[in-house]
Amino acid sequence: MILDILSNRCSVRMFREQTIPQDVIDYILEAGRLSPSGGNEQPWAFGLVTERRLIEAISCAAYNQKWIGRAPLLIVLCTRVVEDERGARDIQVSRFPEWKEEILNADKGFYSRMNAEEHQTKIPGTHMVLAALEHGIGSTWVSYFNVGEVSKLLGLPPEYIPSEILVFGYPGGEMRPRPKKNREEVVFVNKFNK
Ligand SMILES: Cc1cc2nc3c(=O)[nH]c(=O)nc-3n(C[C@H](O)[C@H](O)[C@H](O)COP(=O)(O)O)c2cc1C
Repeated sequence: MILDILSNRCSVRMFREQTIPQDVIDYILEAGRLSPSGGNEQPWAFGLVTERRLIEAISCAAYNQKWIGRAPLLIVLCTRVVEDERGARDIQVSRFPEWKEEILNADKGFYSRMNAEEHQTKIPGTHMVLAALEHGIGSTWVSYFNVGEVSKLLGLPPEYIPSEILVFGYPGGEMRPRPKKNREEVVFVNKFNK
């Protein structure tokens, strides 16, 4: 079932003028809420954006990707920046011991934003994209946007940053999945052999 859905998925940037019902939005959000996260910390907030003017303003903050402004629904995946980021730095030192000095000495504000656990929001985002597809709703991930401007538009407190924008809507045209690399190109067994 999941493979059926995935093999027909593609990024959708043209949408019908059709509102997504609230019960479907709730279903999508629930799929995100149930995601795993490191230490089950769930370091995120999901911003639902349905106001036309706000969607248009966000499309401007996404370096004028105009197609975003015509979507009926955005979900902005926001990450809570870890305040006590010393522990988070230790985790990165354990992963990249060769960069220990750089990791420990990097400026706090810069480091906490560059290492804001924002990769974790890819998980609820992926759940949401799948849940939406079950209801015939297409989407596109957007990470090309000005973080400061989107934060301001959403009134986010300083401890949150927007990490991804998911743009949702009923597809305005045919879904044409793009070619993907074949299995041999992306899988290796035991030893890397690419
Ligand atoms: C993390 C991420 C960020 C993306 N950011 C953008 C974006 O800012 N604008 C856009 O038009 N598409 C964006 N995309 C969509 C990709 O261009 C698209 O997934 C890719 O071309 C593969 O096409 P497919 O999704 O139809 O398989 C993004 C995709 C991902 C996964």
